[in-house]
Amino acid sequence: MSVPRNGGSDYAEYLRLAPLLDLQHPRYPAEDAWTHGDEHLFIVVHQSCELMLRQVLIDLRQAARVMSSPDSGRDLEMCVGNLRRSGEVVGLVTGLTSGLYSMRVDSFASFRPLLGNASGAQSAQFRELRLVLGLSGERNGLLFEAFEALLADTGCQIGDVFTGLSPDHVVRRVADAMLTLSESVWQWQNQHLRLAAWMLGDAGGTAGSSGAAYLERRTAAPFGTLWRARSSVHDQNASTVRAEGA
Ligand code: HEM
Repeated sequence: MSVPRNGGSDYAEYLRLAPLLDLQHPRYPAEDAWTHGDEHLFIVVHQSCELMLRQVLIDLRQAARVMSSPDSGRDLEMCVGNLRRSGEVVGLVTGLTSGLYSMRVDSFASFRPLLGNASGAQSAQFRELRLVLGLSGERNGLLFEAFEALLADTGCQIGDVFTGLSPDHVVRRVADAMLTLSESVWQWQNQHLRLAAWMLGDAGGTAGSSGAAYLERRTAAPFGTLWRARSSVHDQNASTVRAEGA
């Protein structure tokens, strides 16, 4: 691998700011400064979410690759790092999404027809994220299947991850990071659902769905099997208390 020693560029050049800042084109006339500004924010927030999502997909694919073929402890440390960062970055997406509460509902209603049928439901990256997380209903998803491969490789049983492994065992930390990510994804879904309800009320979505009611049915935390394994710590504690009381 050869690493260039000096890219020889300044801030604007390195970040390619000129093309980046030329990608926002609100369709609502600029004469209505408030509505135009709200539409600008709407575009910037969606674009930023897509950028964050690209980072999440890079990290999750890397984590899945390492779990499927863990050749050293250090790689699994990297995997924990990738998973934790994904949870953090999904948290940033939640923060960005909540920024849209600052739009006025009447200005949103004014520029919304200009979206046509454009909707987050058409986001290829979000669709891929649902597949990776096993939220598409077809399979367990790339990440959980990779975690199963890791369990098989290390001889751990899923039922023992939270009750048999110490909290600093790397497999346990991978599982913890996956659940933190799951929680973060669930929080985004809820934030988005509440925002849609706030902005739309009973109105339908631009992709033709029933709107907030549809989103509520879609809301689910990934890795249900892992959640169930984690909740078994309470069974263990309850039986200890029963044994002590006997
Ligand atoms: C005022 C702001 C928003 C409203 C009112 C809204 C509303 C909706 C609605 C009603 C849907 C269901 C599909 C449809 O009929 O369109 C949807 C889907 C979706 N939206 Fe938003 N949304 C907003 C902001 C965002 C933001 C900031 C993102 C982040 C990129 C986002 C990402 C998505 C995704 C990924 C879906 C598909 C969800 C799924 O398939 O479960 N939305 N949105």
